[in-house]
Amino acid sequence: MSETVFLQRVVLRNYKSIGHCDIQLGPLTYLVGGNGAGKSNFLDALQLVSDALNGSLDNALNERGGLSEVRRRSRGHPTHFGIRLEFCLPNGRQGHFAFNVGALKDRGYEVQTEECVIEGIGKGPFYRIQRGKLRDSSEATFPAVTADRLALVAASGMAAFRPVFDALSCMSLYNLNPKLMRELQKPQEGRLLKSAGENIASVIGHLERVNDGQTKVIEEYLHVVVPMVHGVQRKQVGPMETLEFRQDMAGSKDPWRFLAQNMSDGTLRALGVLVALFQANRDYSPSLVGIEEPETALHPAASSALREALVRASQNTQIIVTSHSPDLLDDRNISMDAILAVVSEGGETRIAPLDEASRESMHQHLFSAGELLRLNQLEPDRAFLDAQERRQTELFGSGEA
Ligand SMILES: Nc1ncnc2c1ncn2[C@@H]1O[C@H](COP(=O)(O)OP(=O)(O)O)[C@@H](O)[C@H]1O
Ligand SMILES: [Mg+2]
Repeated sequence: MSETVFLQRVVLRNYKSIGHCDIQLGPLTYLVGGNGAGKSNFLDALQLVSDALNGSLDNALNERGGLSEVRRRSRGHPTHFGIRLEFCLPNGRQGHFAFNVGALKDRGYEVQTEECVIEGIGKGPFYRIQRGKLRDSSEATFPAVTADRLALVAASGMAAFRPVFDALSCMSLYNLNPKLMRELQKPQEGRLLKSAGENIASVIGHLERVNDGQTKVIEEYLHVVVPMVHGVQRKQVGPMETLEFRQDMAGSKDPWRFLAQNMSDGTLRALGVLVALFQANRDYSPSLVGIEEPETALHPAASSALREALVRASQNTQIIVTSHSPDLLDDRNISMDAILAVVSEGGETRIAPLDEASRESMHQHLFSAGELLRLNQLEPDRAFLDAQERRQTELFGSGEA
């Protein structure tokens, strides 16, 4: 099971509302906290890495309003942000990828330091770049690098670093939008669900073609979450495509067919979540799937099916979900290690495992995480936060303080 845990540790510095965060992740993580706590900002840091690798750092920053919006705004005026991701590759090799981006005096930004290390410096492939200059590397030759880009994009041409690029660029983060899922969609390749679900018809079509059995799994869960719905398939409409659902109708022996246009937000979102979770196929498989508030627009009774789907999917793909829903967490079997509490203190996001009191009441099965959340008693571990504050983990090198 541990080989499915791709991202093992995430260290963030001054990323949006997150001053510093240093957390470990397992196969399934619930990031839990109130509105505005900073849950989405955490997922966005992962999305930024994937965006910067799939496109360019420049684009990834611009889409977010530029460096000034991405780096944390606070009284101390940090001028840079940093990200360190410790991973385990599908081939079992461990390593980390880290970089920080700082503002330049006149205008613009630069990657101050970027480092990629597999199996430790001196043991496997590595490189370290400072302000657009290669400082050190295991490789005899290295492609040209510039300070406004992530060198991993150029290094992906080298066999040594390709697996890191592939895995980090395959992190897939979702904030599903039923409105876009409902519109007629342009037929596309559909190997991977896009972040708002805007190509879901193509993805269902692709899964039907590769026929690895996921459409069955998706339909089964969808039926449990929305009992009226019996199936879904891709449907061509002129030059465009959409989804067609089979749904019970009172007084009718056979199910009726409805296009996405006429389906509820809840049904579309549920389908989007399930496709995000079970989309891995022989052509493509995400290294990690992050889903924003999967329970939105769903009836609370659907929560247990959703939880089950999350657990099942996490056996093949690492999953992170954000949630502020007590219903989703109303299960005394949710492992307390799977929950990270996210709180905002004076505008700064803190992320930590649960405190002793929360753990104790969950351990004794006195309360579920959902009940604690309802009582406003799902608290981050103070000792963990204090230690994190003191330690201020280095982004680069071995990751020790
Ligand atoms: N660059 C930034 N510096 C400081 N705070 C930020 C920055 N960007 C966003 N925020 C804060 O992050 C908060 C929103 O966090 P978000 O992750 O969307 O919360 P959640 O998903 O938990 O509801 C807002 O209060 C916003 O002010
Ligand atoms: Mg959010």
